[in-house]
Amino acid sequence: MSQPYAIRPLESADFAAFLDIQGDALKNAPEIFGSDYDWFDSLSILSKEQRYEKFVLFPYQYLLAAVSADRTILGMVGFSCDHHLTKLRHKGRIWGLYVRPAVRGHGIASALVRNVIMAAEEIGCEQIQLSVSTNNKDSYSLYLRLGFSVYGTESHAVKLQDGYVDEYLMSKFLR
Ligand SMILES: CC(C)(COP(=O)(O)OP(=O)(O)OC[C@H]1O[C@@H](n2cnc3c(N)ncnc32)[C@H](O)[C@@H]1OP(=O)(O)O)[C@@H](O)C(=O)NCCC(=O)NCCS
Repeated sequence: MSQPYAIRPLESADFAAFLDIQGDALKNAPEIFGSDYDWFDSLSILSKEQRYEKFVLFPYQYLLAAVSADRTILGMVGFSCDHHLTKLRHKGRIWGLYVRPAVRGHGIASALVRNVIMAAEEIGCEQIQLSVSTNNKDSYSLYLRLGFSVYGTESHAVKLQDGYVDEYLMSKFLR
C-alpha cells in the first residue's frame, strides 16, 4: 500500500475523523455496532463527543487507529480495561475492529491488534478477551493468527431483525 500511516491512540482532536470512519463502518459492516448504533446515532453531537472523550484514556480505555497524513482514519480498534477495579484489571477487552475496504489486506488490522497487545502487556494485563461473529471468517482467522483461541460460544449473542448472530468468545493470555 502506497499510503503511509501512523498508528496512534485517538485524541480529542480526532473526533470528526472518528465520526467519519464510524459512518463508513455503518455502511460497510453495520454488524460490528450491533444494536448500539441506532442508540448512538440518536444522540446529540455533544453527547457523542462526551462518550468519545471516555475513550481517549490511553493505555486503559482508548481507540487505536491507523491515521494517514491528512488525519483520515484508515482503521481502528477499541481497547478497554477496568484498571480501577482490582479484581478485574488483569483482563482487557478488544472491540470495534474496523478497516476501510479500500485499504484491507495490507496488514493494518494485524498491526493495530498487535500494538494493543503490546500496550496491554505494558500495563500488566494478563489476558485480552473479545467476541467475534461465528460467520466472520476474516476476523476470526486474523485473531487465530495473532494467538487468540476460542473459550466458548455465545448463542444468539446479537438479535437482528431477521435472525440471530452467534459469537465466538476468544481470549489470549499474555503471561
Ligand atoms: C477484518 C478486518 C478488520 C481485517 O482488516 P485488514 O486490515 O484487511 O486485516 P490484515 O490486512 O491485517 O489481514 C487480512 C489478511 O491480509 C493479509 N495480510 C497481512 N498483511 C499483509 C500485507 N502487508 N500485504 C498483503 N496482505 C497482508 C493477512 O495475511 C490476512 O490474511 P488472512 O485472511 O489469511 O488472515 C477488515 O476486513 C474489516 O474491517 N472487516 C469488517 C469489520 C469486521 O469484521 N470487524 C471485526 C469485528 S470482530
